[in-house]
Amino acid sequence: MSERQVINISTEEAKRQTDIIHILSQSLKGKNLKYCVSTFGCQMNARDSEKIEGMLEEMGYEKITKEDEADFVIYNTCCVRENAEMKIYGRLGHLKTIKKKNPNLIIALCGCMMQQDIVLETLKKKYNFVDIIFGTYNIYKLPELLQTRLETQESVIDIWDSHQDIVEDLPNTRKYNFKACVNIMYGCNNFCTYCIVPYVRGRERSRELSDILNEVKALVADGVKEVMFLGQNVNSYGQSLSTPVSFANLLSEVSQIEGLKRIRFMTSHPKDLSDELIEVIAECDNVCKSVHLPIQAGSTHILKSMNRKYTKESYLELVSKLRTAIPHIEITTDFIVGFPGETEEDFLDTLDVVEKVKYAGAFTFIYSKRTGTPAATMEEQVPEEIVKKRFNKLLTLTNDHILENMKKYVGQTVEVLFEETSKNDKTVLSGRTDTSILVNVKAPDTLIGHFAQVKIVATKTHYLIGELVE
Ligand code: SAH
Ligand code: SF4
Ligand code: F3S
Repeated sequence: MSERQVINISTEEAKRQTDIIHILSQSLKGKNLKYCVSTFGCQMNARDSEKIEGMLEEMGYEKITKEDEADFVIYNTCCVRENAEMKIYGRLGHLKTIKKKNPNLIIALCGCMMQQDIVLETLKKKYNFVDIIFGTYNIYKLPELLQTRLETQESVIDIWDSHQDIVEDLPNTRKYNFKACVNIMYGCNNFCTYCIVPYVRGRERSRELSDILNEVKALVADGVKEVMFLGQNVNSYGQSLSTPVSFANLLSEVSQIEGLKRIRFMTSHPKDLSDELIEVIAECDNVCKSVHLPIQAGSTHILKSMNRKYTKESYLELVSKLRTAIPHIEITTDFIVGFPGETEEDFLDTLDVVEKVKYAGAFTFIYSKRTGTPAATMEEQVPEEIVKKRFNKLLTLTNDHILENMKKYVGQTVEVLFEETSKNDKTVLSGRTDTSILVNVKAPDTLIGHFAQVKIVATKTHYLIGELVE
């Protein structure tokens, strides 16, 4: 039996930080300070950044997008692949120039990358102009760290190697007023052999069902129509709580909240997707009919070496169960190409899965060696030219299938929740269907945050084009 977790939701700690926020807001009053947050990586980091922004705004900082006009710049970092880290080192080089011109600029780094010793060493040696460094377990301590930096004028490094409390109820912002992300759990216990996340985000811990329900109710009362539940493996939600609850239980409870129109979730690990969950998705109207189900690789032999705990066959069976129970469900996925030991035959298995599943979307990644993970020391790392060839082949094939899948929408009328104006054309709004497909429509921006019926008239590979139904 797995160990039961004791979660200490520290209201005391939240109060301490709130008090510091109050003190800082008094001392910083009238200074007209500006902040700029850059977020790298996944939705977890995006959600953490909302918490960071909320705290800074309570202190009186105003959000801007130009780093060279800011008084406080913070990078919330990712280290899932090497190029994510290289991007941050590159940006730091640029920040150094900005700081030379404005020595009062405070630079803070946080997030997953900071949890690695090797990164800390590099920062201390080559980037000692950084003022504040903290990690993934102590985001809520930002007010205190900033206070220390302002009082001592010295750089502050505070990295913990495991989590202590889940601190609820600190201020946070929301990017959209009609939709919100909600963490239902933190960390990961799965240790896929390529992945750094369990090392930088710690062991899996779930929030109490009642806390999640209260948060969602408050969001709905505040105008939210769509929530996205976040976790590295939402399907194992609640198993370690003192009174265990399943993810299916959580979804069916939340689906009863009056006024909540859409519930999404990410990410579903195929090994833990239960029949009970399939039933809940099928039965609850407001649980969206889309699932992100990363396969990573099609070959059972590679999946074993990745420690994914499912086979090609069991994955395909799961897809078929989902489609039988929920005929119009859309399935998206992640692929890793070039995992150590991947032969041409293994790669053909991945292509075969693409042919069989017909994904509605896919993120394709080239395997990136992460120091400290078991795969980093595996023999038979695949040569770069071979990986690139496979990557391009997989991308072309998945895109062909994605386009094929999109065509079925042409002529249909679908319900769209409009999210924002399109970057390229201000007269066009982008929104999503219940099945999470992106739709572009010529529409007034007063429709942002609202649902409308849209007739699909054409399609591109990654979005549908529609017209408002009068
Ligand atoms: N918890 C999620 C994934 C989080 S990381 C899950 O299990 O599905 C998001 C994606 O990054 C993964 O699905 C994987 O495809 C990719 N990824 C993780 N580590 C990687 C690595 N070392 N190299 C390349 N891609 C990686
Ligand atoms: Fe990484 Fe695997 Fe955990 Fe996902 S489930 S975060 S891929 S270790
Ligand atoms: Fe990156 Fe951390 Fe997410 S490593 S992908 S930001 S959990």
